[in-house]
Amino acid sequence: MTQQRPSDPVTRPPRVGVLISGRGSNLLALLEATERGTVPAEVVLVISNRADAGGIAYAHARAIPTVIADRARYPKRSARQERMRAALLAADVDLVVCAGLDEILVADFVDEFAGRMINVHPSLLPAFGKTLHAQAEALAHGVKITGCTIHFVTDDVDGGPIILQRAVPVLEDDTADTLAARILAEEHVALPEAVRLWAEDRVRVVGRRVRILPAAAPAR
Ligand code: GRF
Repeated sequence: MTQQRPSDPVTRPPRVGVLISGRGSNLLALLEATERGTVPAEVVLVISNRADAGGIAYAHARAIPTVIADRARYPKRSARQERMRAALLAADVDLVVCAGLDEILVADFVDEFAGRMINVHPSLLPAFGKTLHAQAEALAHGVKITGCTIHFVTDDVDGGPIILQRAVPVLEDDTADTLAARILAEEHVALPEAVRLWAEDRVRVVGRRVRILPAAAPAR
């Protein structure tokens, strides 16, 4: 897998397009990290496949362009994702972040952004992949540790090279909701961190493994 870096990262921070379906708390965590300056990237487009996604408000509040590519407007998944793809290309994004997107991306879409599209998943992959109920399934299975994974998106759903993982314990009195909340707090750390590493050009895919390069020494 090749990484396609922005042509001139010195003069232009990487442009990020974010795909959401719902409340958008991961989007907000990323936006706040860019605003704090801890992530040297710019969210330039937010796309939702649901018109009622609460997360869209975070983009509106910041005058970030949005696109709704929902099932009402585009009943066919291929047409819907073609709309998303066209919008991302028109916005000249360097990186695509799937932050709670609830549909599987078609092969053309995945190919277009190969090596520059990442996803946040609420389990320690490869456990509890290919599901929208990873937290409840982890609880039901009885695992004692679960967490979240940030990984590259490939045509193997939830199976792309892993960039970062953060673990959380499963507690005795957990419900799916309390466990999901504990995992979500870690997603909000892991996703901005992965975008930061990518923006700093420190992420290298070697086969199935992702190497994180050391930070550059500060300029003197
Ligand atoms: C997160 O738990 C993410 O891991 C999963 O969907 C949820 C999205 O949450 N894929 P939010 O919309 O970012 O608040």
